[in-house]
Amino acid sequence: MRHPDYEELRTAFTAAVSHELRTPLARLVALLESADLPGANLPELLGKARVEVDEMTELVDDILFLSELEQGREVVALGETEAAPVLRAVIDERIERAEIAGVRLELRIADESLLVPMRRRMLRTVVENLVENAIRYAGEGATCVVSLRPEERGIVLEVSDDGAGVPEEDAPRLFERFFRSDRARTTRGSGLGLAIVKHVVETAGGNVEARGAKGRGLDVRCVLPSA
Ligand SMILES: Nc1ncnc2c1ncn2[C@@H]1O[C@H](COP(=O)(O)OP(=O)(O)OP(=O)(O)O)[C@@H](O)[C@H]1O
Ligand SMILES: [Mg+2]
Repeated sequence: MRHPDYEELRTAFTAAVSHELRTPLARLVALLESADLPGANLPELLGKARVEVDEMTELVDDILFLSELEQGREVVALGETEAAPVLRAVIDERIERAEIAGVRLELRIADESLLVPMRRRMLRTVVENLVENAIRYAGEGATCVVSLRPEERGIVLEVSDDGAGVPEEDAPRLFERFFRSDRARTTRGSGLGLAIVKHVVETAGGNVEARGAKGRGLDVRCVLPSA
């Protein structure tokens, strides 16, 4: 039987999705309208329209991915992956963009042979979301450290930065769908990244926690069972 709160949750989710889609849609309509004006710069307008469409596509992809995960269609726990090469690749692909954002990326691997209990693509999703967030939100001059180490309670995968952080009371809420801390509202993003991270990590039998304070960076720590 369905949980009594199910309908309520579903309504809230639908409302959030609609709201998130409305913003780029409204911008797209405004762009199309201005294309009709005399002297309109069409190549520029088309470029901007493309960005809005890309943003909507990304949002829809994320929602689909999350719902697939929730229905168990993406079997996260299946398989195991040597983590170090994946972490290295994710960082290498972003060195330049991080540099432009003024964020230094650092990798600390305690054991090159550590295996984590999820498929490569899922591990990639987790690390990409966390590193992307640091590049997007930490701010100029910050350092983001990605580390992997064995501990007694499991394999710890941690992404921490010493940048802008979030208010302490926001930290536990970051994993909620569509939750964005205030500072981020001017930047693009739908607030789904960390919800996806949490879902993947928990499906793989692990847990994830965020700790931070305003101006003192954010530390996201995943603990995974040894594969
Ligand atoms: N490293 C960080 N430093 C400061 N704030 C962060 C950091 N990572 C996440 N946040 C905050 O957490 C919020 C939620 O992050 P999440 O990744 O879930 O969504 P998003 O980045 O806003 O959008 P998406 O990842 O779906 O594109 C962000 O909007 C931001 O406010
Ligand atoms: Mg994100």
